[in-house]
Amino acid sequence: TCSRVVLGIETSCDDTGAAVVNEKGVILGEALHSQKEVHLRTGGIIPTVAQQLHRENIGLVVQEALERSGVDPSQLSAVATTVKPGMALSLAVGLEFSQSFVRKFSKPFIPIHHMEAHALTVRMLHPITFPFLVLLVSGGHSLLAVAQGVDDFVLLGHSLDEAPGDTLDKIARRLSLRKHPQCTTLSGGQAIELLAESGDRMRFPLTTPMGQTQDCCFSFAGLRNQVTMMIVKREAEEGIEQGTLLSCVNDIAAATQHTVAAHLAKRTHRAILFCKANGLLPSKSPTLVLSGGVASNQYIRKALTVITDMTGLHLLCPPAKFCTDNGVMIAWNGVERLREGKGILPPNVDVFYEPK
Ligand code: KG4
Ligand code: ZN
Repeated sequence: TCSRVVLGIETSCDDTGAAVVNEKGVILGEALHSQKEVHLRTGGIIPTVAQQLHRENIGLVVQEALERSGVDPSQLSAVATTVKPGMALSLAVGLEFSQSFVRKFSKPFIPIHHMEAHALTVRMLHPITFPFLVLLVSGGHSLLAVAQGVDDFVLLGHSLDEAPGDTLDKIARRLSLRKHPQCTTLSGGQAIELLAESGDRMRFPLTTPMGQTQDCCFSFAGLRNQVTMMIVKREAEEGIEQGTLLSCVNDIAAATQHTVAAHLAKRTHRAILFCKANGLLPSKSPTLVLSGGVASNQYIRKALTVITDMTGLHLLCPPAKFCTDNGVMIAWNGVERLREGKGILPPNVDVFYEPK
């Protein structure tokens, strides 16, 4: 066959990922090593620890992905690797590995923008054409953008402080949700979703962020502060120690989840109206793609469905596996770039990472 085959490598945060994907979007082989358990124990990512774990695992992860694919390095069309944005020390590991790999096997190198890769993964699964609107929400990202082409994005909004997943994780940690038997293995966002199911969101009213701001940006730090103050007040009222609240965690989870959903929905609604007013989306089947770890939250999805139904947009959510960081999305972005001949470098060019 003459189909192009790309090896993708991802190390921008806490996942060491590699995958071999062909031009048709078939995943020939993939491997992923997650550091989440280690970072959960330390209560956050320590950059040098993340770097060390990437170093320990990258060789094996790439080897596994290649072996599972049955593709020999010599048969690869190119190697694609995340070079920005992300944690500097983590990015450096993937980039250094890739640069020596492409030199060894004389392969073209494709530097990849992590967020662009997230935004385009949906095209591996659905025949969706440009332009489309994307909402990316995870532990590290929150942004609204119009994808106009493989290397052409219009950023409409981003978080002014932290990402929604990070906020949910921090609130979950403040509530010690990991101590709850049903939540021991769940991420903060998952724990909040589970507890919120049996909570009353009206019991602790929260203010939706940025009600007066006329743009499509996000903010979650103020919401986290509101929730923390509420927790502190309850702990004082009950005369209990920090992180031992039990009686109303479900209600707090429900209020928090609702407010995050409302904020995301309101900003997305603004973005859709802006796109319509400026002809940024096609009149025939305009689409909103929702991706990132937080996108697996059913309550948040429902809130966005209300907005897309109201504005006549089609809502697409890739399966959870394709919403989170992995080598597949990087390999697919490489395929997309190869098809268009955009951003492909010869093996001997020195490439630098850009954390921002
Ligand atoms: O995309 P992802 O796996 O990793 C990066 O952030 O790069 O996203 C993880 C984030 C975490 O903050 C986690 O709490 C959040 O996504 N998350 C959720 C849910 N599942 C994961 N947030 C809300 N509801 C969920 N069901
Ligand atoms: Zn990501």
